[in-house]
Amino acid sequence: MNEEANIVPVTEPERQNHYIGEVAKLLRAREKSLQRKLTCYIATFGCQMNARDSEKLLGILKAVGYVETEDERSADLVLMNTCTVRDNADQRVYGRLGVLKGYKQEHPDMLIGLCGCMMQEPSVIEKIQKSYPHVDLIFGTHNIYKLAELLYRLLTEQRPVIEILDHADTVVEDIPTERKYPFKSGVNIMFGCDKFCSYCIVPYVRGRERSREMDDILCEIRRLADSGVIEVMLLGQNVNSYGKHCRKEVDFATLLKEVEKIEGISRIRFMTPHPQDFSDDVISVIRDSEKICRHIHLPLQSGSSRILKLMNRHYTKESYLQLAEKIRKQIPDVAITTDIIVGFPTETEEDIEDTLDVIRKVGFDNAFTFIYSKRTGTPAASMDGQVSEAFIKEQFARVLQLVQETSKVRAQGLEGQVTDVLVEEINEHDPNLLTGRMSNNLLVHFPADPALIGKIVPVRLAECKGFYYLGVLQNN
Ligand code: 5AD
Ligand code: SF4
Repeated sequence: MNEEANIVPVTEPERQNHYIGEVAKLLRAREKSLQRKLTCYIATFGCQMNARDSEKLLGILKAVGYVETEDERSADLVLMNTCTVRDNADQRVYGRLGVLKGYKQEHPDMLIGLCGCMMQEPSVIEKIQKSYPHVDLIFGTHNIYKLAELLYRLLTEQRPVIEILDHADTVVEDIPTERKYPFKSGVNIMFGCDKFCSYCIVPYVRGRERSREMDDILCEIRRLADSGVIEVMLLGQNVNSYGKHCRKEVDFATLLKEVEKIEGISRIRFMTPHPQDFSDDVISVIRDSEKICRHIHLPLQSGSSRILKLMNRHYTKESYLQLAEKIRKQIPDVAITTDIIVGFPTETEEDIEDTLDVIRKVGFDNAFTFIYSKRTGTPAASMDGQVSEAFIKEQFARVLQLVQETSKVRAQGLEGQVTDVLVEEINEHDPNLLTGRMSNNLLVHFPADPALIGKIVPVRLAECKGFYYLGVLQNN
C-alpha cells in the first residue's frame, strides 16, 4: 500500500475533508504561479433539487479555494449540473457544450465538468466521450458529495475522470454548502423516487427513495436558523412518503410539526407532494400551522382517469378533485399550483377535456404545462399511440390559455389586501423596486430600502399585473 492510501480516511465526511485539504494545496500552488485567484462557474439546469445540489457543489469548490465568477468564458472551472426530465433540457446542455469548446480554445487550462441527472444515462456518456472530448470531469447524482476527491484525481492523474454510480446506499451528511440566499434555504429530506410514473426518468437517474433521519434534518435546520435563515423549503421528489425507511417510525406530518418548533424559522415550504399520499394529517398540520406557507404544489399531470392509469399515477380525476376540494375547504387561503403534461401516448381531445375540467374546477393558482417528452427506458416510451405534433400544439394552447385565465382570476382576488412578504432581492428589471414573495408564492414588487432584503414586511397589494403584483410597503 502506498503512503497516501495509508492516510486517506475511509469514512465520510472525513474522507472528503481530507481531499478538500489536498485539492486546496494543489490549487494554491497553481494560484501562486498564475498570481491570481482561480475562478469557478456553475450552470444549473432543472428543478429545486438540482439548485440545492449546486449549492453543495459550490460549497466544496469554495472550500478548496475557487472564487465564484459570473463570467463563464474566463472561468478556470465550469461545471454544468444537468437535468434530463425532458429532451429539451438535454439539448440545451449539448448546445452549451459547443459554446464551451470555443471558450476552452481561448483558455486551454479551463476545466469542464458535467454532473447531475443526464449523466446517469449510459447513452449520454457515450455521446460525450465521442463528440465532446473537451469535457474533463463527469459524475452523476449519487456522488455529488465526492467532488473534492474527483477533482483530486483530475488534477493528479491529468486525464479525464468519469465516475457514475448506479445507486447510493448512504446519505452523506456535513459536506460544505454555499447558499444562494443568506435568508432562505432548501433542505433535502429525501432522495430518489419509487413512484415510477410511466413517463418519468427520475426513478432511473435519481435511484430508490431514501429518507434522511429526522434528527439530521432538524439539526441542519437549527444550524441554518442560527446562521440567519428564516425560510426553509423541504425538498424531495415525493415528500409525503417521507420516513418510510427511517430508523425511527416517522412521517411527513410529524416532520412538519417538528420543523415548526424551531425558533428563528418563520416560513416553511415543501416540494413536491404526490396526490396519492397526501394524508389528512398533513392537511390539518398545514391548517394549524403559523409557519407553513399557504402554497401546495400538487402535480395533476392529466385530468383523465384513463391517462392517469396509463401514467401509473395511482389516483383518478375524481379522487384528485376530492383532495383539492378538501384542501381548499380546510385551508381557504391556500394557493394550489400544478404540473400538466400534454401529449401523453393515446391522449385524445376527450382526455384533454377532462384536464380542462379539472383546471376549471380546482381553479389553479398557477400551472406549469409541459409537452410530453419521450424518455428512452421509461414504459411510456414504448407505448403505442404516440400522438402527433400538430395535435399537441393545438391542445397545449387550449390548456395554457385556461390555466392563464384561472391563475389571473385567483391572483386578482387578493387586490387591496395587506400581506406579509419575504423580501428576496432588488427587482431584476427596475432597481428602484424590491421583490418580495407572499406566503402563497406570488411575487410583489414595491419601492423600498434594499436594507429590507431578507426581512418579512407587510405590503399592500395595490395593482394586480396578472401573475404578480405592484405593491406599497406598509408601516410595521
Ligand atoms: N415529459 C414531459 N413532462 C415531464 N415531466 C416529467 N417527465 C416528463 C416527460 N417525460 C414533468 C411532470 C413533472 C415535472 C417535474 O416534469 O409534470 O411533475
Ligand atoms: Fe417522476 Fe412520478 Fe417520481 Fe415525480 S413522482 S419524480 S413524476 S416518477
